Amino acid sequence: MHTLPDTLCYLNGEYGPLHEAKVSVLDRGFVFGDGIYEVIPVYGGKLFRFDEHMARLARSLAKVRIPNPHSEAEWLERCRKLVGALVERGSPDKLVYLQVTRGVAVRDHVMPQNLTPTVFMMTSVMKPPTAEQRHHGVACVSARDFRWERGDIKSISLLGNVLARQMSADHGAVETILFRDGFLTEAAACNVWVVHEGALLGPPKSEHVLEGIRYELLRELCEEEGIAFNLRPIPEADVVSADEVLLSSATKEVLPVTTLDGQAVGHGALRGKPGPVYARLFAAYQRAKLAQTI
Ligand SMILES: Cc1ncc(COP(=O)(O)O)c(C=O)c1O
Repeated sequence: MHTLPDTLCYLNGEYGPLHEAKVSVLDRGFVFGDGIYEVIPVYGGKLFRFDEHMARLARSLAKVRIPNPHSEAEWLERCRKLVGALVERGSPDKLVYLQVTRGVAVRDHVMPQNLTPTVFMMTSVMKPPTAEQRHHGVACVSARDFRWERGDIKSISLLGNVLARQMSADHGAVETILFRDGFLTEAAACNVWVVHEGALLGPPKSEHVLEGIRYELLRELCEEEGIAFNLRPIPEADVVSADEVLLSSATKEVLPVTTLDGQAVGHGALRGKPGPVYARLFAAYQRAKLAQTI
């Protein structure tokens, strides 16, 4: 068995060591994967894009009809208490994980009325990409997007994403880039972007894609940098022929993909190397981290 960390966690109103926290086997999160989660990065003790995470949490909860158990101020207080309790080991940057499930009830697919949601929160030290990965970029594989059709909901039911991510792990790669009906959706745990003729392109927001917090952030950073930003359907051929391919997520921030299914990404002297749009967005991202206030 893996050794469980003894960091402080929060469960239904109580703080205590993570390895001692317990939920009922009848929790609908355990039985059905019936719940929602968020992962919030923390830099220098401050929660990055906290309001945006809270807005997405509220959207996901509303879509699955679970009442939001806390106000934004209550969530913030709990996040801060956990972040303050986490001893920094290695990296000063941290992550807050929070999840809300529909609660505990006798097993029945139909949503029981008036359940008390289960709230669980924990923190961990962030494991950012290595200097080597930033310098050389990372390898990805591609696969058909075989997950369900509501990728817009940040659901704890992640078996499809787990299976997709494992495909890349089995090939020593960092992510699995997914295509639905020949068009780019996202990766197992990241959004995916391509650069064509200097513009950053991403798939349109839809029920097939999680709207990562970096969707809006990258739009803002592109505006700052004078990089054209466009959301439009992206056929597989446009990913294969892209000048650059990027991943984005809370922990990866932006990260260059330099090989896809063993083929180098990009053209000319930059083939198989991180490109200039990545370099500018990464630098702009670091500035945005310093500017945060919550
Ligand atoms: C399926 C999926 N898409 C996209 C993302 C990126 O979202 P964010 O930028 O909010 O981390 C994630 C993050 O975990 C994810 O799991």
